[in-house]
Amino acid sequence: MTTDRHQDPGFVRRMFEGIAGRYDLANHVLSFGIDGLWRRRAAAIVGGAGARRVLDVATGSGDLALAIVRACPHAYVMGVDFCEPMLEVARAKGVPNLALADALSLPFADGSFEAVTVAFGLRNMASWEAGLKEMRRVLAPGGLLLVMDFSLPAFGPLRMAYRLYLHRVLPRLAGALTGKPEAYAYLGESIEGFPRGEAMLEMVARCGFRDSSLSPLAMGVAAITTARRDG
Ligand SMILES: C[S@@+](CC[C@H](N)C(=O)[O-])C[C@H]1O[C@@H](n2cnc3c(N)ncnc32)[C@H](O)[C@@H]1O
Repeated sequence: MTTDRHQDPGFVRRMFEGIAGRYDLANHVLSFGIDGLWRRRAAAIVGGAGARRVLDVATGSGDLALAIVRACPHAYVMGVDFCEPMLEVARAKGVPNLALADALSLPFADGSFEAVTVAFGLRNMASWEAGLKEMRRVLAPGGLLLVMDFSLPAFGPLRMAYRLYLHRVLPRLAGALTGKPEAYAYLGESIEGFPRGEAMLEMVARCGFRDSSLSPLAMGVAAITTARRDG
C-alpha cells in the first residue's frame, strides 16, 4: 500500500465526488475528444473475446461500460465504483447494472466474469497489485483482463511536449472546467509513477495473468494492456 495522495482512497473518493458532474466534459476537452475512440477500441477487444459476463471496475461515469454494452449486446455488463456521485452519472446515462463497491474487495464470487476491464482507475487504487489480484479472483480461468490507462510516449520530443501539457497546461484547464483545480494537481505525478511498457507487463504477470500484451494509444499517451487469467 502507498501513502501517495492520489492513491489514498478517502482523498480519491472525495476528489471524484467533487468533479462527478463535470468529469465527462473535462475528459472530452482534455483528450481532444479521442477518449471515446479509446473506449470503443477497448470495447471491441472485449466483444472480440466473446465474453458474456463483463465487469467494469472503477466504472465512474460509465462510458466504457456503455461502449461494452453497445459492442456486446448479448452480454451482461456490470459496473462498480466506490464513488456514488460518479455512479449517479452512469445511472443517468443508462448503464444497466451498477454497484457501489471497492475494487479491492469486490462483492462477487470467485470466477464470476469472463472479462474484467478497468479504465483510468487502477492508477488511483491504494495498491495496483491488490487491485489486479482482486480482478483475477473474480475472473474465470482464461478470462480476459483489460487495463486502459495513461502512459508516456516513448519518442523523446513527443514525450517532452506531452509532459509540458500534462504538468503545466492540463491542471489549469481542468481546474477551470471543473472548478476543482486540486482534483487534477496529482494527475501528472500519478501518470509518471504508474508502470508502463515492460514494467506493466511484469506487474500483470506477477498478479497471476499470462499472455499479456500492450497496445499504445495516440502514440503512447495512453495504452491498453490485455492478459488472460492463468489456471
Ligand atoms: C478517472 S475515473 C475513470 C472512470 C471511468 N472508468 C472512465 O474510463 O472514465 C476513476 C474512477 O475510479 C474510481 N475508483 C478509484 N479507486 C477505486 C476503488 N478502490 N474502488 C472503486 N472505484 C475506485 C473513482 O471513484 C473514479 O470514478
